[in-house]
Amino acid sequence: MANQNHQSQPSRVTSLGSSNRDSPISALTAYDYPTARILDENGIDLILVGDSLGMVVLGHSDTTSVTIDMMIHHTSACRPAINNAALVADLPYNSYETPEQAIASSRSLVNAGADGIKLEGGFSMIPQITAIIESGIPVIGHIGFLPQNIKSEGRYKKKGKSSDEYKRILRDAITLERAGVVAIVLESIVSDLAKEITETLKIPTIGIGSGNHCNGQIRVIHDITGNFPWFTPPFAKPHCNIANEISCAVKKYIQSI
Ligand code: KIV
Repeated sequence: MANQNHQSQPSRVTSLGSSNRDSPISALTAYDYPTARILDENGIDLILVGDSLGMVVLGHSDTTSVTIDMMIHHTSACRPAINNAALVADLPYNSYETPEQAIASSRSLVNAGADGIKLEGGFSMIPQITAIIESGIPVIGHIGFLPQNIKSEGRYKKKGKSSDEYKRILRDAITLERAGVVAIVLESIVSDLAKEITETLKIPTIGIGSGNHCNGQIRVIHDITGNFPWFTPPFAKPHCNIANEISCAVKKYIQSI
């Protein structure tokens, strides 16, 4: 039976940082009921309704056209599927320009069933992060390569290669921890920097494309299941090939009619 209890559970997010964990934090994205239910039933710690849904579900070229209404829609699809994992939703591009807007957007995701939110950015996002946390909503930070900045960045790149950038990202991590985030996603930074951040902070780091030294790892579900065969990031290892399975079933179906 599906879980009909739609209550948000902020403690599931805050407990990710508990120091008595004996295994790395496992995190994957989900955007719909069946996927979220399969992840939850298999013991994943954290389910992220990522704004990557713009790319892997809606076929956009980047995440910048994802709206808060889309995030609400997909978060509410995942909520009833989850009994144990923490459910976190991304604040999409342009939905947290001011502290007031950040609180309103975060509340709408919590009302849709999220236990907490994630947002992209370091030092410059502290007013928004502080406001959201003070409103009682747990926040996961996200630094390093920021997909919502893809238009100004031009392309996906590894961050922290230059000494200035390395120091800036390390400072961002420390500042975010002081502001009270529960955990920090480190996206596409050099592995030495991810290691130093992980050793410096008390809160957990969750890596993606940042090496093996983080306290946990997160991936887009389509990347580890081979469900977006047209592009797989170099750091994502597919553990099965769903696209092939679907192709096979479709061919068999066509032949069967
Ligand atoms: O939107 C997303 O999928 C993310 C990644 C870190 C997994 O933010």
